Amino acid sequence: MLIHLLTFSNPDRINELTQIELNLFEEAAQRLGHEIKVIFARDCQLKFDSRPGLVLKGIKIKDIKVLIVRANFLRSNLEFRHSLIRQFELAKVPLINGYLPIMKAKNKLRTMQILGQHKIPIPKTYIVSHPEYIDDVITDIGSFPVILKTLAGSHGSGVSIMESKRGLKSVIDILIKGDDSDPVMIQEYVRESKGTDIRVFIVGKRIVGAMERIATRRGEFRSNFHLGGRVRVAEMSKEEKKMAFKSVAACGLDIAGVDIIRTKTGPKILEVNANPGLEGITEATGRDIAGEIIKYAVKIAKKNKLQK
Ligand SMILES: Nc1ncnc2c1ncn2[C@@H]1O[C@H](COP(=O)(O)OP(=O)(O)O)[C@@H](O)[C@H]1O
Ligand SMILES: [Mg+2]
Repeated sequence: MLIHLLTFSNPDRINELTQIELNLFEEAAQRLGHEIKVIFARDCQLKFDSRPGLVLKGIKIKDIKVLIVRANFLRSNLEFRHSLIRQFELAKVPLINGYLPIMKAKNKLRTMQILGQHKIPIPKTYIVSHPEYIDDVITDIGSFPVILKTLAGSHGSGVSIMESKRGLKSVIDILIKGDDSDPVMIQEYVRESKGTDIRVFIVGKRIVGAMERIATRRGEFRSNFHLGGRVRVAEMSKEEKKMAFKSVAACGLDIAGVDIIRTKTGPKILEVNANPGLEGITEATGRDIAGEIIKYAVKIAKKNKLQK
C-alpha cells in the first residue's frame, strides 16, 4: 500500500533528524511490502471550492488512503500549520494524528489542562503571565530550584532550571514583555529523578516501546535523547502503563510519546508528545517502531475503506 507522510521540514533543507526519521519510515515500509510518499507542507495549497480541498504537487487528494502527520514544528506559524492539518481532515483524509489532538499536545498549557481535568498526576505547575506574582508561586511550590518552560518547546529547548528567585525574576522579565508575550510555565523540580525519566511510545492504544532516558552531560538535568540522554529499555509498572494510556486517550492521539517522571510521591506525567522521535526509542528497544506506525497506518486505511 502507498502511505503518505506529511512533514513540515523544508524540502531544500531537510535537517539530519528529519532525514534519519524519513529513512526509518522508508526502510520499514519496504520491509513490510509498502511504500512511503512524503508530502512537504510547503507544497500543499489550500483550495476552497464546492468543499475544502488541497492542491498537491503530483498527488490527487483522493489517492491518499492515510496520512501520517509528523507535526515537526514549534512556535512559528502555528495557526496556519494547524489549519493545514485540519484541511486534510476536511478533505476526508484519515489522519494519524488528527488535527485537534495535535493542537492539544503541541501546547504544554493545554496538555496540563487536559491531564488535570482527567485527574492524571503531574508535578505542581503554574502558568504565569506577570513577574509580579512570582513570590506567591515560589511560596506555594516550596523551594528552589524550579523548572521554567516555554509553552511550545520540544527536545528540551525551552526547558530550564532556575536556582534562585533573582535569576527566575530576571529571566521572566526577558520572556514576558507586555501583554502580547506568551505566559511561561513554572514547575516544581523533581530532584529525586536525578535527570532520568521514562519515554513511552504508544501507537494505536498499544505500548510499542518504553525507554529510560538518563541525562549524561555535566550539569544537565534534561534527559532528552537529542541533548545526549543515554537510553535503555525501561520496565514499567502497571500504574505507569495505565497513566500513559489515560494521558494519550485524553488527548485523543493515535501516535504519542509520553514522558513520565518518577517522584517520591509516585509517577507523574511531564508531557505528551504528538510527534515523538523515532531514533532514540528504536535504538533503546531494538524494535521496529517505524514499522509499528506503518502497520497501524495500513490498518486505519483499510478500516476507512470498509466504512466508505
Ligand atoms: N519538573 C521537572 N523536574 C525534573 N526534571 C524535569 C522536569 N520537567 C522536565 N524535566 C526534564 O527536562 C526534560 C524536558 O522536559 P519536557 O517537559 O519533556 O519538555 P520537552 O518538550 O522539551 O521535551 C524532561 O525529559 C526531563 O528530563
Ligand atoms: Mg519531553
